[in-house]
Amino acid sequence: MDYAIRPATLDDVAGIADVAHRTWDLTYARIIASHNRRQFIERVYTPEGLQEAIEGDRAWFYVAALDQEIVGYAHFLRRSDSQGELVRIYVHPDHQRHGIGRAFLSAGAAAMAITGVSLCLASVEANNVSAHAFYRRFGFRHRRDYAQFLGDQLIKMVEMKVSVGELQEKLGEGSG
Ligand SMILES: CC(C)(COP(=O)(O)OP(=O)(O)OC[C@H]1O[C@@H](n2cnc3c(N)ncnc32)[C@H](O)[C@@H]1OP(=O)(O)O)[C@@H](O)C(=O)NCCC(=O)NCCS
Repeated sequence: MDYAIRPATLDDVAGIADVAHRTWDLTYARIIASHNRRQFIERVYTPEGLQEAIEGDRAWFYVAALDQEIVGYAHFLRRSDSQGELVRIYVHPDHQRHGIGRAFLSAGAAAMAITGVSLCLASVEANNVSAHAFYRRFGFRHRRDYAQFLGDQLIKMVEMKVSVGELQEKLGEGSG
């Protein structure tokens, strides 16, 4: 399918929130209690919260669009001169495994490389097997384990890391 990957604008806010609701429910159904999921999404995916994220001067926020519909988003942050982080990447369940996640990584890696960022971090829930497979495919490795509260629930997290150079190498290795 013909997906367009582009920087997010304020017109995309509702579409991003829709993808968040749908994808969170499916991804975390067995991992995060529904009241904690709902509370988090309602707090973070507000028009104001998304506007701040999209307009952040140390952020790269991309969306994937199919015609006029938003089907995925990825948000990278520049944490320091040399360190970046992929803070969220979500693709609508109907459009997963079509190369959108890979395209988001390509866009983020290019932006990080141009600005001199050499290390990319990403945090993933410890039991999110699909996301682990995705990150490992592109060279991310374990950096540390930690836990954080989401509402009234303690969630086990894994922080992963990859050098931006290796990420670009893996992205250049062809599809699959
Ligand atoms: C993880 C996610 C962002 C990947 O995006 P995507 O567009 O589906 O991924 P791509 O099609 O670009 O996949 C690229 C490669 O990553 C690997 N991969 C992706 N999803 C995978 C899965 N579920 N199982 C195993 N490998 C996977 C494969 O090697 C894949 O290549 P292939 O399809 O040719 O085999 C997406 O599936 C998603 O939104 N998942 C739910 C939300 C989530 O877990 N986000 C991460 C939170 S930290």
